[in-house]
Amino acid sequence: MIKKAVIPAAGYGTRFLPATKSQPKEMLPVVDTPTIQYVVQEAIDSGINDILMIIGRGKRAIEEHFSRNFELEAQLRDKGKEAELALIDTLPPGVRIHFVWQHEQNGLGDAIRCAEDHVASEPFAVLLGDTVLESYEERPVTRQLMDVYAEKEELVIALEEVPEHHVSRYGIVAGEDIGDGLVSIRDMIEKPSMNEAPSNLAVASRYILPPEIFSALEVVEAGKGGEIQLTDAIRILLSQRPLYGCRINGRRHDLGNKLDFLKSSVLFALKRSDMKDDVASWIKELSASLEG
Ligand code: G1P
Repeated sequence: MIKKAVIPAAGYGTRFLPATKSQPKEMLPVVDTPTIQYVVQEAIDSGINDILMIIGRGKRAIEEHFSRNFELEAQLRDKGKEAELALIDTLPPGVRIHFVWQHEQNGLGDAIRCAEDHVASEPFAVLLGDTVLESYEERPVTRQLMDVYAEKEELVIALEEVPEHHVSRYGIVAGEDIGDGLVSIRDMIEKPSMNEAPSNLAVASRYILPPEIFSALEVVEAGKGGEIQLTDAIRILLSQRPLYGCRINGRRHDLGNKLDFLKSSVLFALKRSDMKDDVASWIKELSASLEG
């Protein structure tokens, strides 16, 4: 049973400068909601109510977003703005968010290391804070992985096919399909070149990890970019135990990428009943003007 989620959100967000010079990339809004709120909601909708966020310098806005703002609440209540009041209620009752500080930014693996005291000896979910995963079914993507874990009780990672020229942006796996959307993973490599990549199946921002990952992170050496890579630590475990990949029934929105960010904002607006019609007619006008 997975009860805890870890959300690393300490990275600088250099791909989104200058917007991220003084605000966390995880707070960039898609329509009107910060990216990280979608991620937290995915964990909650998957049945997790204990969330640990790994933050660093310049990330205070995330803490504030998930704390109560009594002054603003009082003001909205006085003015009878009930709808707005509901919008700033960012955490349902019973859900607890904890924060831990990553002092030096030394890679995703190093960030996960900061979760050791909190998750202790339990398996846990990892959701990267700058990526929203849209599910094509009722179960959120993290829940899809948790259900695989419930059956296999082994490491599970989310996988998504990417175009060949994008493999160098991701962790890429080698393995065999074993049915039900599962892949038995033989090997994985962090951000390979197109020639080195064993497939086009990319690690897609969600993981279920066992507590043994922490001992692997202790011994793993700096990898790609001179940083401690989670992929390399998982690879150590892979020599000792099975690793399952789950082809997600959904799609990934990498909001650290400018083009994806723009596309996602439009796609998410099209899903909103209060915006859909206006946005659709604007897109039609725009596309007509581009053709004409
Ligand atoms: C991280 C992981 C990589 C994974 C990617 C998307 O890279 O290291 O293996 O494919 O997230 O989930 P980052 O985007 O943090 O550079």
